[in-house]
Amino acid sequence: MDWDNIVTQPLAILGGPKAVRGELSDELFHWPIVTEEDEWAVVEVLRAGSMSGTDITRQFESEYAAWQGTRYALGYCNGTASLLGAMYGVGLGRGDELIAPSRTYWASALQAFSLGASVVFADVDPESLCIDPNDIERHISPRTKAIMVVHYHAYPADMDPIMDIARRHNLRVIEDMSHAHGTLYKGRMVGAIGDVSAASLMSQKSLAAGEGGILCTDDQRIYERAIAFGHYERHGDGLTLPDLKAFAGLPLGGVKHRMNQTVSAMARVQLKHYPERLAEIDRALTRFWSLLARTPGLHPHCPPKNSGSTMGAWYMPIGHYASQALGGLPVEKFIEAVNAEGGRVGLGLNFQLHLHPVFNQADIYRDGKPTRNAFSERDLRQDIGALPVTETLAERVIGIPYFRRDLPDEIAMFAAAFHKVAVQADKLL
Ligand SMILES: Cc1ncc(COP(=O)(O)O)c(C=O)c1O
Repeated sequence: MDWDNIVTQPLAILGGPKAVRGELSDELFHWPIVTEEDEWAVVEVLRAGSMSGTDITRQFESEYAAWQGTRYALGYCNGTASLLGAMYGVGLGRGDELIAPSRTYWASALQAFSLGASVVFADVDPESLCIDPNDIERHISPRTKAIMVVHYHAYPADMDPIMDIARRHNLRVIEDMSHAHGTLYKGRMVGAIGDVSAASLMSQKSLAAGEGGILCTDDQRIYERAIAFGHYERHGDGLTLPDLKAFAGLPLGGVKHRMNQTVSAMARVQLKHYPERLAEIDRALTRFWSLLARTPGLHPHCPPKNSGSTMGAWYMPIGHYASQALGGLPVEKFIEAVNAEGGRVGLGLNFQLHLHPVFNQADIYRDGKPTRNAFSERDLRQDIGALPVTETLAERVIGIPYFRRDLPDEIAMFAAAFHKVAVQADKLL
C-alpha cells in the first residue's frame, strides 16, 4: 500500500478517495472466535442435560484460577453478579461506602445499593483513565470499606499505591477486571493483586463465553462469603467456616448466582486459546499505533513499553486525542472525518455515574431520601465539577478500530485514515 500517496490525497469527507479501500477480511473484527471445539463443548452439555450442573463449571474454575494465579475462582451467571459477590465477600454492608471510578459500566458500583452500602466516586488518572491513587484519600471517611478498581479499557490501574492506601486505611480492594483478562501490571496479572477480583465473560468481552462471570481471590473468607451469598448449591462442600456453615442450604443474599454450564463449557475452550489470541490482538494494536508514532494529536492509551505493564487483549481500544495539536479540531469532527475515510471509529466511553439520577435522586428502597444517602449522615451526592478529569474525558479520548487479527495491509489502511485526517486537520477547521 502506498502510504505517502494515500495520506496526501484530499480528505474523503471533502470529496476525496477513502483511505480504507477494497474488501476487508471478515476476520479482522470478528469476535468471539468460535470453532467446532466450542460448538462440541456446548452440544455435549445440552445432550447430557447438565446445563444446571456444576461439574464443568468447577473444571473451568480450576483452570481459570491456575491461569489467573489465585487460590480460588468461582463461576457466575454474569459479571454483575460476580461483582456483587465480591462486594459481599469483602464485607460491604449497611452504611458502608465504596470508592469507585465514575466512568465505568454501572456494575462496578451500583450493586452496593442492594447491600445497603453507598458509593463515592473518585477521579481518574488522565493517562490510564483508571482510578487515580492521588484522588482516593480525600474521599475516605470512617464508613469507607472498600475501593473498586476498574482496569479501564484493559489499562492496568496503578495498583501499588492503591494497595498501599488500602493497607494504611484498613480498606479492601476489589478489582473489576471485566476489560482486562490477561492484562499485566508490572509483570503481575491484574485480578490477582487486590483482595478479590471479578469479571464479566459476556459475548463482547475479551474472554467471551456469553452471559457469565468469574470471581477470583486468595482469601478463603471472601470466597466462602461469596458462596454463602449466592451459590447455595455449593454450600455442602464450599463452606467450612463455622459462622457461614451455620446457614448452609439457603443463599444469604436470596440470589442465585450459578453459571450455566453451556457457558462454562465454552469458557473452558475460550480460555485454552486465549493466550495466543490475546497475543495476536496485541501485535495488531501495537502495529497500528507504531504506524501512528509520528501522527500529531494522537497517542495510545497504553502503558509504556518495558514497564512490565500490558494491555491484555486491548478491550475496546481507545487513544488520547489532543485537539490543540490539531488546531483545536473537536474530537467529534475528527471522528466524522476518519469514518468518512472508512475508519470505523466511535467515542467508546461509558457515561459518568456520579452525575446520573440513579445515584443522585432515586429513592429505590423507600427510605424517604436518595438511596445514595439512605444510611449516611452526610450528603454523598456529587455534582458537576466534582471530578474534573472524568468530566472532560469525552473531549480527549477517541475510539480506534478493534482489530482481532494481525493483518498488516488492512491495519495499515486504517492507520493511514487516522494519519491522513490528522495531517490535514487544518482543512476541517
Ligand atoms: C467494567 C464492567 N464491569 C462489569 C460489567 C458487567 O458484566 P456483565 O454484563 O457480564 O454482567 C461489565 C460489562 O458488561 C463491564 O464492562
